[in-house]
Amino acid sequence: EMAEKGGYEHFMIKEIYEEPQVIKDTLSEAEKIKEIVSKFKNFNRICFVACGTSYHASLIGEYLIESQIGIPTEVILASEFEYFQKTLDKHTLVIFITQSGETADTIKALKIAKKKSETLAIVNVVGSSITREADHVIYTRAGPEISVAATKTYISQLICIYLLVAYLGENEKLLDNLYKISRLSEKILSREEQIREIAKKYKFARDFFYIGRGFNYPTALEGALKLKEITYIHGEGYPAGELKHGPLALIEDNIPVVGILPPGPSYRKTYNNLQEIKARGADMIILGANNDTHLDDIEDKLLFDPEIDEVLSPLLYIIDLQLLAYYISIEKGIDPDKPKNLAKSVTVE
Ligand code: G6P
Repeated sequence: EMAEKGGYEHFMIKEIYEEPQVIKDTLSEAEKIKEIVSKFKNFNRICFVACGTSYHASLIGEYLIESQIGIPTEVILASEFEYFQKTLDKHTLVIFITQSGETADTIKALKIAKKKSETLAIVNVVGSSITREADHVIYTRAGPEISVAATKTYISQLICIYLLVAYLGENEKLLDNLYKISRLSEKILSREEQIREIAKKYKFARDFFYIGRGFNYPTALEGALKLKEITYIHGEGYPAGELKHGPLALIEDNIPVVGILPPGPSYRKTYNNLQEIKARGADMIILGANNDTHLDDIEDKLLFDPEIDEVLSPLLYIIDLQLLAYYISIEKGIDPDKPKNLAKSVTVE
């Protein structure tokens, strides 16, 4: 097992370090994705179906497709799919996202959907059950993922989704920007020490909030999921604008709040929301651009190239949140590769 870990202490950290390469490998599928897009029949609606981390990747797909192309899109949890199946028809494209290709709820949903609609599966494990059922298959090229908590496979799912959106929307600029991402991802991995320090500071926290808006509301959800899975700390992801409608009542002195604040059209509103939280005594951990002067008085900040605007930020900002969960887990003496009560692939409904 030591040899398989390639010198790393855990599979999870090894898999996070593989992310820059995974981005390159998945981008090399671009031509295949373009070809699949050209084969789609006529559709006027997209429906994503997934569970867990794959569900969060799907949510980013929904934000991207609706905002960049304008095709009505929804995301349904595979375990809730049966309640929504009546609206499917031949003009709906149903996209199944699954790392393992073996999640029971997702397989069941695909069997129902293919009777009425065209289906596409975005899958990591080659030859898995889902790949035999779907009309089209895109492979994510992340390689085997051993750690229970999904990390590199999430990044590769996102790359596939962004490529899909770029081709569906004939968006050359988005395509060009994607090629910058793998270079910039390496920089994030060089600030491991800083993230370790933040992890030490907050390892005794009972609750964490993760706040994001738009494309990064799903990033907030995924950051909180990573925390729950491998540190056993309660983490809640929330859309920045919804705080006033409840969670603000829970903000108290020294509660850690992760604020996702990339440059872009949503910046000002999200900034104001985070100010409200800070004013109530929370300890802020901010992810934002390295030229953002408003962050001067923030102690814990994880900074990115300002080229990474809000549309692209979900691809890279999540890496820091994966590392943060990993190091809190280590600080607490938990084995992040084998969290209690969880399985890599859930094969029961
Ligand atoms: C399990 C895993 C998660 C994963 C989810 C969906 O809960 O622990 O990491 O996101 O299943 O799995 P899938 O293979 O369908 O993406």
